[in-house]
Amino acid sequence: MGSMKSNHHPLHSGILPFMLLIFFIFCFQSLFCARADSTYDNFANCLTKNGVPNNQIPQILYTPSNASFTSVLNSYVRNLRFNTSTSRKPSIIVTPFQVQQVQATIKCSKGTGLQLKIRSGGHDFEGISYVSNTPFIILDMFNFSNISIDIPSQTAWVQSGATLGEFYYSIWRKSNVFGFPAGVCPTVGVGGHISGGGYGPMLRKYGLTVDNVVDAQIIDVNGNILDIKGMGEDLFWAIRGGGGASFGVVLSYKVNLVQVPSTVTVFNVQRTEARNAADILVKWQNVAASIDNNLFIRVIIQPVPIIGTRKMTIQATFLALYLGDSVSLMNLMNSQFPELGLKQSDCLQMSWIQSIVYWANTKNSGSRPDVLLRRTTDSVSFGKKKSDYVLTPIPKAALTFIFNKMIQLGKVGMEFNPYGGRMSQIAESDAPFPHRRGIIYKIQYSISWGRNNPELTNQYLGQARELYSFMTPYVSSNPRRAFLNYRDLDIGITSNGINGYSEGKVYGLKYFVGNFDRLVKVKTAVDPQNFFRNEQSIPILPS
Ligand SMILES: Cc1cc2nc3c(=O)[nH]c(=O)nc-3n(C[C@H](O)[C@H](O)[C@H](O)COP(=O)(O)OP(=O)(O)OC[C@H]3O[C@@H](n4cnc5c(N)ncnc54)[C@H](O)[C@@H]3O)c2cc1C
Ligand SMILES: *[C@@H]1O[C@H](CO)[C@@H](O)[C@H](O)[C@H]1NC(C)=O
Ligand SMILES: *[C@@H]1O[C@H](CO)[C@@H](O)[C@H](O)[C@H]1NC(C)=O
Ligand SMILES: *[C@@H]1O[C@H](CO)[C@@H](O)[C@H](O)[C@H]1NC(C)=O
Ligand SMILES: *[C@@H]1O[C@H](CO)[C@@H](O)[C@H](O)[C@H]1NC(C)=O
Repeated sequence: MGSMKSNHHPLHSGILPFMLLIFFIFCFQSLFCARADSTYDNFANCLTKNGVPNNQIPQILYTPSNASFTSVLNSYVRNLRFNTSTSRKPSIIVTPFQVQQVQATIKCSKGTGLQLKIRSGGHDFEGISYVSNTPFIILDMFNFSNISIDIPSQTAWVQSGATLGEFYYSIWRKSNVFGFPAGVCPTVGVGGHISGGGYGPMLRKYGLTVDNVVDAQIIDVNGNILDIKGMGEDLFWAIRGGGGASFGVVLSYKVNLVQVPSTVTVFNVQRTEARNAADILVKWQNVAASIDNNLFIRVIIQPVPIIGTRKMTIQATFLALYLGDSVSLMNLMNSQFPELGLKQSDCLQMSWIQSIVYWANTKNSGSRPDVLLRRTTDSVSFGKKKSDYVLTPIPKAALTFIFNKMIQLGKVGMEFNPYGGRMSQIAESDAPFPHRRGIIYKIQYSISWGRNNPELTNQYLGQARELYSFMTPYVSSNPRRAFLNYRDLDIGITSNGINGYSEGKVYGLKYFVGNFDRLVKVKTAVDPQNFFRNEQSIPILPS
């Protein structure tokens, strides 16, 4: 008792400055937080007014003052070029898991004057779903990942935040005779992929993903939920390849499943210049787009060192999917493409789902289909892609000339993806994606690297641009066509995120050719204030 009393004074005199300090820190912090929090609080209040229950708000709303803001942001950054400390960060991230939260986010974003960016899988090659040159909000759809497969009707509903891998896996769990024609990389998101017109190695048999879409759910600029009937023919047409982000928030797509055989065959063979890569490519250009629709042969062309020397050569990798067994594939190859010299021992027979795993990562091709459910990837790197379309075969002399240029540049590669088959039977105006009849193949220019070094970045971006420029005489012109899902801001951009029609037309004609005008009309009708906009969105008609 006595000791307590005697301690009273010193304790008392000691606690006063301490409490003042606490008080000061508390006030300072609340002042500081109040400033940072006003963004949070205002948005939270608005969400509440628009029907989002208070207890849901901490689950879906993040500002930079939240500890998990950075991890939420980085979870779906798929190109390290846009993960630098200098990349602009969003002011707000919303991660909805209910439709009403999406509707409220659209309404509340309007009041902030910030640009709204929609992200599903985050695989945009220019990162435009999560970086911006103006202050912005991210509406992150990763929790919209439900998939429902209906085998009797051979259809499926798949939400935009599901990954392609999850979708393929879900189909496989229900059936061994159905598949779906979409992209190769299992972590790609459905929302960006389908609205951008995705494709994969069943393209020659079944067309693009959008050629197999039969319904959709979208939330428009006024917060209305629309299905195919509600949105009408024009808007439904637009979100099958015109890019969802110009028109609204896509919640889900309904698609037709396609039939796949119980056994498919894959191969992956390399041919260097010393093994007639140029001659084989000449022949490939003549057969790849006209051969049996069940066969898709991609070619990857890269400069590689000649082992044991300091010289470089070009290596062409022929990576194929055949919807059939290896005996019929060998018959086909021997009669129509013997120049490749494919052997029975090069062929691997497997189920369709295993071929998805094989194409996703040929090094771990024996992994179980469960790997398709992984949302994280080990191989996030720095990268740049560009695209072109080839309408007339490139002669051998020109190929050799191009090979020499690639060796001189040193690193940038090209991927040739054959068209033809089903692609040539579908009218150019059927969906916004216009590159159909007459296209022999699409080129993807590709360079990626693993180290953060601004000098290296400039050098590698420069290589991609130089090869693209070098290829001008050999590819489509007026317009020089490009593929929306291979987003490339080099081909045109709107300034300050505000789409001038004349700026939009520059990239719009390359991506959409004759379909651009209709996209502009749909855009002007459904979003006349141009709320849904980004660096390469569809512009509204000049007033
Ligand atoms: C490793 C890798 C492999 C690829 N392979 C293929 C391939 O085989 N075939 C192919 O066609 N493409 C391929 N792509 C390209 C890919 O299809 C596109 O980048 C696609 O847009 C990615 O979709 P996402 O949802 O993951 O991207 P995000 O970056 O989330 O979105 C891309 C664009 O779509 C918009 N968007 C996203 N979700 C919605 C939504 N719910 N509503 C409205 N707008 C939305 C975004 O705002 C952005 O403009 C590949 C990309 C990568 C990185
Ligand atoms: C995020 O920060 C706001 C404002 O500081 C806070 O009210 C909210 O609870 C935080 N959310 C989470 C999930 O911690
Ligand atoms: C992005 O950068 C941050 C900060 O440098 C780092 O912590 C994070 O791991 C990076 N993200 C990825 C996916 O590498
Ligand atoms: C949202 O996604 C996260 C991460 O995948 C998950 O942990 C969480 O349970 C999801 N929330 C809802 C409500 O679906
Ligand atoms: C996904 O499905 C579950 C179960 O039917 C449901 O509770 C949930 O709300 C759905 N999520 C979304 C985002 O639609």
